[in-house]
Amino acid sequence: MLVAPSILSADFGHLARDVAAICEGECDLVHVDVMDGHFVPNLTIGPVVVEAVARAATKPLDIHLMVQNNSFFVDLFAPLKPGYLSFHIEEEKHPHRLIQKIRSLGIKPAIVLNPHTLPEAIEFLIEDLDMVLLMSVNPGFGGQKFIPSVLERAVRLKELIEKRNPNCLIEVDGGVNDINVSMLKEAGVDVVVAGSYVYRHPEGVAEAIASLKQ
Ligand code: DX5
Ligand code: ZN
Repeated sequence: MLVAPSILSADFGHLARDVAAICEGECDLVHVDVMDGHFVPNLTIGPVVVEAVARAATKPLDIHLMVQNNSFFVDLFAPLKPGYLSFHIEEEKHPHRLIQKIRSLGIKPAIVLNPHTLPEAIEFLIEDLDMVLLMSVNPGFGGQKFIPSVLERAVRLKELIEKRNPNCLIEVDGGVNDINVSMLKEAGVDVVVAGSYVYRHPEGVAEAIASLKQ
């Protein structure tokens, strides 16, 4: 299992320290939640802060856009050269075009599905994607409860991926911990995002990341 800790649960007063800690703790990706206060009822960080995150990180960034006007935000964050850049299908009229744009900027494109969105909605985009992110909470906040139906959605998505593009990864985001991670693995999930579990772990972030990898 690959692990992408979400810095949303980091101490923003010590952001560089908390980003370095997850990288030293052998995370695979650094998950960055960008919220605009319109698509979701919360507002987080823009390119000035994400640039500081990129400087502190030794692992690729996994930028999760939760915004309206995706194309504008792609232009804003592309210069930071994230590993992955993901946008919500619910908020995009021309997802195929946006995927090509992200790829032309040298970034791996990913699409995010809210808890109600059917995996079939993106069936004919899978061949152009490097990753699909399934939300296991409603986007907007860290520390929410895991929605178990993501397991069934992951199994359905995995079937489509095997048919259309076996190299495409499945990532799950929200309420992930050391208990549900084994069910996610069984459902075919490749990458888990975890914010509060990693940053609130009593034995520290490295221990938390290791417990998710098993
Ligand atoms: C929610 C974000 C998540 C969040 C996960 O909108 O996309 O990445 O930080 O936090 P936890 O792991 O605490 O649910
Ligand atoms: Zn996220």
